[in-house]
Amino acid sequence: MLGDWLGPKAAALETRGLTRRLRPRVAGEDLIDLAGNDYLGLTHDPRVIEAAADALRIWGTGSTASRLVSGTTSLHEELEDELAAYAGQESALLFSSGYLANLGVVTALGGPGTLLVSDEHVHASLIDAGRLARSRVEVVPHNDVDAMSKVLAERNEQYAVMLTESVFSVLSDEAPLADLAAAARAHDAVLLVDEAHGLGVTGDGHGSVHAAGQAGLDHVIVTMTLSKAMASQGGVVLGPAVLREHLINRSRPFIYDTALNPAACAAALAALRVLQSEPDRPAAIHRATAHLADAFDVPHPAGPVVSLPMPGPHQTVRAADLCRADGVRVGSFRPPSVPDNISRLRLTANAGLTSNDLDRAAEVIAAAVAQVY
Ligand SMILES: Cc1ncc(COP(=O)(O)O)c(C=O)c1O
Repeated sequence: MLGDWLGPKAAALETRGLTRRLRPRVAGEDLIDLAGNDYLGLTHDPRVIEAAADALRIWGTGSTASRLVSGTTSLHEELEDELAAYAGQESALLFSSGYLANLGVVTALGGPGTLLVSDEHVHASLIDAGRLARSRVEVVPHNDVDAMSKVLAERNEQYAVMLTESVFSVLSDEAPLADLAAAARAHDAVLLVDEAHGLGVTGDGHGSVHAAGQAGLDHVIVTMTLSKAMASQGGVVLGPAVLREHLINRSRPFIYDTALNPAACAAALAALRVLQSEPDRPAAIHRATAHLADAFDVPHPAGPVVSLPMPGPHQTVRAADLCRADGVRVGSFRPPSVPDNISRLRLTANAGLTSNDLDRAAEVIAAAVAQVY
């Protein structure tokens, strides 16, 4: 039954070069990694590993229950307080992932009385959040503040939330945050900014909202993931304390989900503390992206990602395979994971890469790209 149903769908994907395949990493492999999102290079930092191991010994292997039952530990609250202080926000609330943080906050603010206005390049988690929110959703052209304002001005709904990212996950360009926050204020709306790729990277690590002077405002909400620069897992919603209180009471992805693992909290907390004690780390990310961008003659990105457009999905996968065979892991992004339908190699920076690593990687990638064109 499922073979008849799903088989033709799988065949159609294969023909278009869009089949996704899991490629498990093996322990101890020696690749230059330009595919992972360990931006600050802290996933194997002994201080982060020790903190997670200590938490395992103290709290055990799981959080045992949802946050409102017995899943909240002192570590959860410590991490929330430190993240809020670092991002310049009044409060923070952890979720099990960045995906759930976006679902959790958008659905808790959504409903028929709330309009959602979304940048066309936002991450799938914000798109899915809009679908789940039972709100009218208007999608506007990328980074177009006037288009957002027009939709806000013409709405019938009492409330409105604008959805954007600070640095976008594929093109790594930046949103005009000060203008968006001003538009939100002018139209009595709320601005939600996903800083998944901003935390630890932009604004000297504090994120783009902080750098733009828009942190701590009563109409600006930030979401983040702990799975990238924070070398862990989990997500967080940051904003006014009244929002945190609302989410605790009304956000289903918060209420009905087992709390984030204490070891993940401890790892993120340790990574955040390393970042604060070594504030030069974000600059190393930007040096690495500049190095890669120069090697391929593309503009320096605002965020931690260098994207190289490819002629099509088949060539993208083939080039990534060739790179891996030659010791370099790169991301191969194809529709629907690219905002403009253009398949690309996605290279992510890591503060731990040396310039020799980056030279070697650039050489391997250039050879692979030349081979598939
Ligand atoms: C922009 C953006 N938002 C949200 C997420 C989801 O975060 P998580 O992986 O923690 O679920 C990601 C990527 O994973 C992302 O790139």
